[in-house]
Amino acid sequence: MAKSHTRFVCSHCGAFQSKWMGKCPDCGEWNSLSEQVVHDIAEDRHRPLVSARGEDGPLVVPVGQIEPDTSNRWTTGLSEFDRVLGGGIVPGSAVLIGGDPGIGKSTLLLQAGQAMARLGRKTLYVTSEESLGQVRLRADRLDGDKPPKTSHELRVSAQANLDIISNILSKERPDVVVIDSVQMVYRPEVAAAPGSAAQLRDAAARLIWLAKQMGFALVLVGHVTKDGAIAGPKILEHLVDCVIYFEGDRYHAHRLIRTVKNRFGSTDEIGIFEMTSTGLLGVDDPSRMFLATQRAARPGSVVLAACEGTRTLLVEVQALTSQSVFGSAKRKATGVDSNRVSMILAVLEKHGDIVLGDQDVFVNIVGGVRVNEPAADLAVALAVHGAFTGRGLPESTVVCGELGLGGELRPVNHQRQRMSEARRIGFQKMIVPATSGGGSKEKRAASTDLEILTCETVGHAIRHLS
Ligand code: TYD
Ligand code: MG
Repeated sequence: MAKSHTRFVCSHCGAFQSKWMGKCPDCGEWNSLSEQVVHDIAEDRHRPLVSARGEDGPLVVPVGQIEPDTSNRWTTGLSEFDRVLGGGIVPGSAVLIGGDPGIGKSTLLLQAGQAMARLGRKTLYVTSEESLGQVRLRADRLDGDKPPKTSHELRVSAQANLDIISNILSKERPDVVVIDSVQMVYRPEVAAAPGSAAQLRDAAARLIWLAKQMGFALVLVGHVTKDGAIAGPKILEHLVDCVIYFEGDRYHAHRLIRTVKNRFGSTDEIGIFEMTSTGLLGVDDPSRMFLATQRAARPGSVVLAACEGTRTLLVEVQALTSQSVFGSAKRKATGVDSNRVSMILAVLEKHGDIVLGDQDVFVNIVGGVRVNEPAADLAVALAVHGAFTGRGLPESTVVCGELGLGGELRPVNHQRQRMSEARRIGFQKMIVPATSGGGSKEKRAASTDLEILTCETVGHAIRHLS
């Protein structure tokens, strides 16, 4: 006879409790806990829902004996999207995608949805913002002049009522569900207005619970607030397994997606697309796209070898200084952290023999890319110094290096990767910190076609400006 114990499950958020309570401690809903009997024998297949975390298996296993869970990913049909997801979408997982209006969230998901449907996954696209006709128009645009598909079509529903969506899900039993957007989904029983924190939390928690229970991969589109965070309570980001943001601006043709949280892969991975007249196109060679065409020496312009996730790309850092008209000098940074730029300006004043106190300083990364890593410091410093003194680096030079407060240059990670990218694009010189990893062997090997100029301090690096 199977042993069993009881537990209490919240009908609102799906959390389990060991004893009955009037109010669920996880979601705060009243009177939502109901009793469940759980059989403790592994062979029992008729027990109620358990989580997908392997409760059927032995309690403890040596890590070496665990089968890695690699096969359980579905490609989205877009390699750049797969890359940020960590190799594809995981069934039963929830992905949240945020980004400014008009940046391409619906385009990306409609494209991925169509591709997955074509690959044989039953895919449901629920639009809570647009009409079916609008979705069809976009789909036609994405198809371009490709012949219409007859089988494996993406299924679309224009619904915002969560009760109806839940019914559709249990009837359709899809493999992949896209909700565009979660902010507009509501449940009539919840007194709050659609889009409010209470509705949002309720809708997201229910959808995620359904995804785990039914095993479909869930993609939620989230709106962002003015300062760029996903609107609604932070709980939305905690609830999901993966959070992806769209970056870049819609005035440029390219779009970046970046993972900020991923339970199934690394974060800070980026995917790069170009927005074309027939949808988003993956960019295989971003360095060539982001670099301005000319490579001649130009004061205030420095090429940086940046590393984003597993990817190295060359980007152009530009700076401009001009005499400040009003009392306080302006400092504006686009694509790099403005606090970091303030620090670099202070270091330059101390160790670079320039006075910027009465200068407006503008720093920009060309093409709307955002570089978060400190390895961009040296490029910013050389661009600002060059802009102020009217001197530029020698032609075909690329730089990377972190700046210390004492003016010293610190080594950066993935040095070898950055060098090979510079070499691949055809650069001839690279300025790197003297203590960079890799040792002399790497430098000799690299020096055959890429001259490595090592510098110990920012002062040394400035001497290369002419
Ligand atoms: P959209 O995907 O609706 O953005 P979001 O859902 O993030 O608000 O639209 C993105 C923009 O891209 C829109 O202004 C129209 C444009 N676009 C193209 O340039 N090419 C295309 O093939 C499509 C579908 C849209
Ligand atoms: Mg949209």
